[in-house]
Parts: sequence; C-alpha cells; structure tokens
Amino acid sequence: MRPILRELLGVEMMTVPAVVAHGGAGPGPDRQQNVEMAIKVAAEILKSGGSAIEAAVEACVVLEDDPVFNAGTGGVFRNDGSVSLDASIQTSDGKIGFVIGMEETPNPIRVAKDLLDEEINGLAGIGARIWADQRGHIKAPVEGRPPHGGEGDTVGVIARDSNGLLASATSTGGTSHRPAGRVGDVPLPGSGFWADQKASIAATGVGEAITTALLSYRVHDRFTSSSSDLLSSMQWGISELIEAGVSVGLIGLGPEGEGTGFSNTDMPWAAWSG
Ligand code: GLY
Repeated sequence: MRPILRELLGVEMMTVPAVVAHGGAGPGPDRQQNVEMAIKVAAEILKSGGSAIEAAVEACVVLEDDPVFNAGTGGVFRNDGSVSLDASIQTSDGKIGFVIGMEETPNPIRVAKDLLDEEINGLAGIGARIWADQRGHIKAPVEGRPPHGGEGDTVGVIARDSNGLLASATSTGGTSHRPAGRVGDVPLPGSGFWADQKASIAATGVGEAITTALLSYRVHDRFTSSSSDLLSSMQWGISELIEAGVSVGLIGLGPEGEGTGFSNTDMPWAAWSG
C-alpha cells in the first residue's frame, strides 16, 4: 500500500526499508566495494529502526571520508588548488538543506542535514562555515586530490525507512577542471536531486549538463506522471536530455521496491532492501 493511501486510511503498516547509493559517474579507480560498504552502513541503521535521514547521511559520510571519491576528503582541487565542497539533502516530506562552496569542512552533508529543520534551506561559502562553527561541526583542512584526468564526481545515497520516508543525500567536490567559486548541480534542487512521496532521484556527472537539463526533476516527473518505470525514466532522461558523450548517471528509489541506478559511463552503484 502506498504511503499516501496508508495515511488516508489511517493504517499502521511498515514499509520495507531500502537504500541505493552511487560513487560518481565518470572515470576513476575501481570503487564498487567502497559503495557497498556505505550501503552496509545504511542497511544496518535501517534494520535497527533508524530513520532514512540518518541512514542516508551516515552512508554519505562513509563516502565523504573515503579518499577514492570526489566528495569530502577526496574532493578534487579547483583550478586554483582549493577544495570547495557542496552537499544537499531532501526528504519526501518536503524538507531541503544544502550548502555551497564550503572549505575546511570534511563532512558538508552533516551541515546540510542540520538545515532540514531551519527556516532557511541553503547556505554558501564563509557564511555556511560560520553557521557550521556555531553548531559545532568539525572544521579541519580537507586533503583533496588532483583530478583523475576525467570528470570524477559526486556521491549520493537515497534511503527509505520503515515509516515510508525517503531521504536523499548528495555530496561533491565538483566536476574536475573548474574554477574556484563554480557551482554545480549538487546543491541545486531539481538539478542534482529531487524527491517527494512518489520517488527520490539523485544525479551525478558533469554538473553543467545536469543543471541545464533540470535532470532530477524532469526524470522524477517522467516517472510520476507517465507509465514509465524508474529505470526507463532514467534511461529516457540521460538519452533525451543529456548530450552524447557527457558523463551523467542517476539513482532512484520509490515508495516501494528496490532502488536502481543508470549511467552512460562508469558509475559504481549498489542497492539493498530489507
Ligand atoms: N556533479 C557534480 C558537479 O558537477 O559539481
């Protein structure tokens, strides 16, 4: 039974928990096992009754802390050698938090999560860091790394808990070979992520192409307003809205069933459902 129907009928029913995660679209080291580690962390949280928010954030932190990914510790250098991180979170009950261009913040997803219950949705740059300081978020140099030669990219996790809540968490050092101050898709609602009670979608790849296409919103719309299933909607989005040769990937999760992923390039992804 769908969560909306369940709510209307006042029926107490447990939803089957699930999680799907990716480790970025584009060239990079083999990172499939690392994504599976993050899935394991999220699955343990969900199995023990934890929330989708907690599961998505903690799995995202695993990926941010792993230097093979272009997020958190492994964020790629901007053209001036700086490391500048973006992160976002959205829940199916209508909350959003995002941070843009954070320096000295190894886990920007934790800062974004703290915005979920605030009046404001997003913060950028020095203001974001001051706000994070006031809430005790770790401030430390972020190692970063040179681009691998290709794009390398975002990490993302979407979780669904036993109450039927969906939460998606995304984090990135930005597409490689970009200037300081550049903003990609990850913190932009509808571009790098979009969610409601019917589905949650998260994107990875070249941020400019994803943003121009409003990719996550339009794939979500395709899924929720046509007979297209999640995978077909993602395939449609990437083949119809993204120029050939531009690396892009998507993951998605609905109110029931398993999560799925699709990419036009290398994209490690994994899923679990209870
Ligand atoms: N997809 C990550 C970025 O372009 O910033």
